[in-house]
Amino acid sequence: MTTTPSTATATAAPGPGSSSSSLPTASPRETAQVLGGAVGPILAQGVIARRPWVVKLAGQLGTDDRSVRMLQGLRARHGDGPVRLPIPGRPAALVLGAADVRRVLEQTPEPFATASWEKRGALGHFQPRGVLVSHGAAREERRRFTEGVLETGSPMHSHAESITRVARQEAVALRADAAGSGVLDWPTFVTAWWRVVRRIVLGDHARDDHTLTDRLTALRRSANWSFLAPRRDDLRRQFHDGVARHLDRAETGSLAEMIASLSEQHPGTEGSGTEDLAPTDQVGHWMFAFDPAGAVTLRALALLAADPHLRGRVRAELAGRDLNQPQELPLLRAVVLESVRLWPTTPLLLRQTTQPTTWGAGELPTGTAMIIPTWFLHRDDRSRSDADRADPDQWLDGSAAQDWMLTPFSGGPGVCPGRELVLFTASTVLATLLEEHHHVLLPPERFAARGPLPRGLDPYSLRFGVGRSTAAGE
Ligand code: HEM
Repeated sequence: MTTTPSTATATAAPGPGSSSSSLPTASPRETAQVLGGAVGPILAQGVIARRPWVVKLAGQLGTDDRSVRMLQGLRARHGDGPVRLPIPGRPAALVLGAADVRRVLEQTPEPFATASWEKRGALGHFQPRGVLVSHGAAREERRRFTEGVLETGSPMHSHAESITRVARQEAVALRADAAGSGVLDWPTFVTAWWRVVRRIVLGDHARDDHTLTDRLTALRRSANWSFLAPRRDDLRRQFHDGVARHLDRAETGSLAEMIASLSEQHPGTEGSGTEDLAPTDQVGHWMFAFDPAGAVTLRALALLAADPHLRGRVRAELAGRDLNQPQELPLLRAVVLESVRLWPTTPLLLRQTTQPTTWGAGELPTGTAMIIPTWFLHRDDRSRSDADRADPDQWLDGSAAQDWMLTPFSGGPGVCPGRELVLFTASTVLATLLEEHHHVLLPPERFAARGPLPRGLDPYSLRFGVGRSTAAGE
């Protein structure tokens, strides 16, 4: 484990109340600017359930662009930090350097807990016992269980055949519809995507259980307001009962089947000294996390539609493969990774210190929120040559994996345990959409492959012209 402290030094006068030997501290004015101009627009777009109209507005107003400039200015004045933000009642620090990002993520959950105050407030609305908001022994057991079901680290899940079958069936139907109407847009895509998700997680019988996912969406909308919104206990109960009914079937080939078999191996909680695995809470998180993955997949399609060279390379990767069989598609996965790097679905990674934590010459008090602004670190054009262009090759040659400034799936012991499963699902859906069909990006979200890519790309406005490919290729 690396515990490299930041080597950055403060270049500005220390903030109020701090001594010259402590960590750089933003002024109250800078703090207000960061909260209002950078964090505020992210929260307004909905951290747990996106608000499409705000996402659209943010894109039109260029808030992502402005907030990148703001953090560049802050770093120029204070160094990599961590830069403390003097927020009354909520100690916080912005983590802006690779070594510091690494330290925070590798030293999760002690002393940097995943279960920050904000996350407990938000996720408590629908998964109060989810692994992300658990700590101590409960977190350990739930994480082990989660990794067991999702098969974290394995590019090909042992249910890859069923996942392929499901993803192919839904994507073939989707592309036929799109080719029929000539257009693929968000509403048609997301309907098919949710079918894929419900079938993979809960089984084929859950395919059309829109009520279940609508209830989850309603709970997530309340979760956007964290502690400010009242808990909707009845709705939460209905959602969990619905999930439990699907889990009881333990349908062959679904994650529900794996949940049943791993739960059986887990000793009962009563009097055994072990923690409740809370499978319905974990499933709540998985379904919530699969939702933005739909946006990631559609943005990846936009990258391919805009870039004939990249599209040609992907077509070459697909050529001659039997897509009805599970396929590892490294380049297509790398395009999905670029989509989530360029437009991260977790724009702020949060940790919270569980004890006073020494950092260089300074100390962070217990309860400090460590904020890793991925949306900035991934797109900082003062330090990255790939800030505004797609570079899938960095995921193929391993350089992105070594780069702690790039953490779309987090890193360390709290890394996203669904990473491989979702990359496999997304690449299988994309491969099917591309097979024998071509896509042209339609207005309003248009961009040139070689030009700077937009900092905000509204997935809900994405539209593609779709047609069958000619024998010659496109
Ligand atoms: C493109 C899609 C996804 C992205 C970009 C993504 C990214 C992330 C990130 C950044 C975190 C860390 C959050 C934090 O520390 O606050 C995380 C955690 C997590 N993700 Fe994902 N995720 C995706 C899809 C999924 C899916 C599909 C699943 C499940 C099937 C999943 C399961 C989880 C779980 C359980 C955690 C909590 C891990 C822990 O606390 O130990 N994710 N994900």
